[in-house]
Amino acid sequence: MIEAKGLTKHYGDFIAIEDVTFKAEKGEVLGFLGPNGAGKTTTMRILTGYIPATSGDAKVAGYDILTQSLEARQHLGYLPETVPLYTDMTVREYLRFVGKLHGLANGKVEKRSGQVIDICRLGDYRDTTIGKLSKGFRQRVGIAQAIIHEPDVLILDEPTIGIDPRQVVETRGLIKSLGGEHTVILSTHILPEVSMVCGRVIIINEGRVVAMDRPENLSNRLGGASRIVMDVRGPDREIVQTISKVEGVKAVHGENLGGRQRYTVEFRPGKDLREELARLVVNRGWGLLALEAQGLSLEEIFLKLTTREEL
Ligand SMILES: Nc1ncnc2c1ncn2[C@@H]1O[C@H](COP(=O)(O)OP(=O)(O)OP(=O)(O)O)[C@@H](O)[C@H]1O
Ligand SMILES: [Mg+2]
Repeated sequence: MIEAKGLTKHYGDFIAIEDVTFKAEKGEVLGFLGPNGAGKTTTMRILTGYIPATSGDAKVAGYDILTQSLEARQHLGYLPETVPLYTDMTVREYLRFVGKLHGLANGKVEKRSGQVIDICRLGDYRDTTIGKLSKGFRQRVGIAQAIIHEPDVLILDEPTIGIDPRQVVETRGLIKSLGGEHTVILSTHILPEVSMVCGRVIIINEGRVVAMDRPENLSNRLGGASRIVMDVRGPDREIVQTISKVEGVKAVHGENLGGRQRYTVEFRPGKDLREELARLVVNRGWGLLALEAQGLSLEEIFLKLTTREEL
């Protein structure tokens, strides 16, 4: 449904994105996750045809965004970072207006305005002037205008930014429900949002794709049991020295809990060191009081990836 190949954008000498390549299948909700300035908006603007790429190409719903840009645009809905709403129109007037811009026939415009007002739960506000709506409801109008022409592909740039927590929950629910029928790409720098809404996530940092997987796989693949927390009674320094020497262990942090120490052992993923560490402690005659493996949260993975720490 969306296919991006080697997308690169230069602003003068500055490289905003480089070699961004990915696919999104029909019905998928794909998250673009990355810190400020990572290149999320730039990628989305290229996909929606608002700016040209310096190199690389992309297809939306089977249409090349450059050579078949009209067709591509007909098949996509876009919620830009700042929604250009006409604040003196009512919700219904605005949606009709956008529907007509997309070339929908009069009858269809009426029907679809009503439908998107329902889908985005704007019923109570259909005759309210947009200027009087709260930020969250404006964002919903933004989503409504993006789906009015029933596009196959939806590109939503930070759809939940600036919305209060209660409305965020609803907006996320709405976006999630749009997947299935539409192929959705959304950008965010909020990690929990990705796990909640997206089936797959692309982590983008400094203009490059640094990871791409399902949220739960990212945790498993990169994290797995790459950290063990163990409570041990015994001679602190000796314990740290012994554990540190185990192959694959990257770091050992100790913490005194009074009568025993808690050690957080970090090691390279891909190897489960639990048994080996347990055996070691017991063989030395120290007291093993607790031992638990911990996976990495998406947040930690993100931090690791984006700080370029060795994994
Ligand atoms: N028109 C432009 N001219 C020069 N540099 C630009 C332009 N647009 C974007 N950039 C730069 O490209 C980089 C990527 O910007 P982009 O807006 O894509 O980031 P983003 O991931 O959307 O960030 P945010 O989370 O803050 O929205 C940034 O360093 C930005 O300053
Ligand atoms: Mg942005």
